[in-house]
Amino acid sequence: MLDAKVAELLNVQVNKEFYSAYLYLDFSNYYTEQGLNGFANWYRVQAQEERDHAILFMQYLQNNGCKVTLEAIDKPDQKFASFAEPLEAGYQHEQYVTGLIHTIYDAANSVKDFRTMQFLDWFVKEQGEEETNADDLVKKFSLFGSDARALYMLDSELAKRNYSAPSLTL
Ligand code: FEO
Repeated sequence: MLDAKVAELLNVQVNKEFYSAYLYLDFSNYYTEQGLNGFANWYRVQAQEERDHAILFMQYLQNNGCKVTLEAIDKPDQKFASFAEPLEAGYQHEQYVTGLIHTIYDAANSVKDFRTMQFLDWFVKEQGEEETNADDLVKKFSLFGSDARALYMLDSELAKRNYSAPSLTL
């Protein structure tokens, strides 16, 4: 059995990952409404990845004999005044999620729960990639977003992102 605090944090993370999926679907919907279908695609794929993360946390809890409690998912309620705002909010959100993962890691480390630490190693690496991707989007938009032709090309590039299942299996 997992330590109670570690199990609780893992269960909270299920909700946080589903919220991330919800948040990115909200971003995707915003860009669809604005006619930027490539940006919309990028966040729709990201939402699928976040759902995968939620399922992985659920499976890990279940593999360790823990009950999963699904809580209500917060409503994404951001209003965007510019195309750049979701990108910046996304980067901040990934930094926040990295902090959550590190908090679980800390809790697991404090009770010598090496199995959970090993499980979380994948997420520590994944967060590094997700922060880099989110930061790249912010930087690319600040370089090219104000030029209509460049924005069109960036949107076309983001339209090519395809979903692929996570490399971690349990
Ligand atoms: Fe599941 Fe974007 O972190």
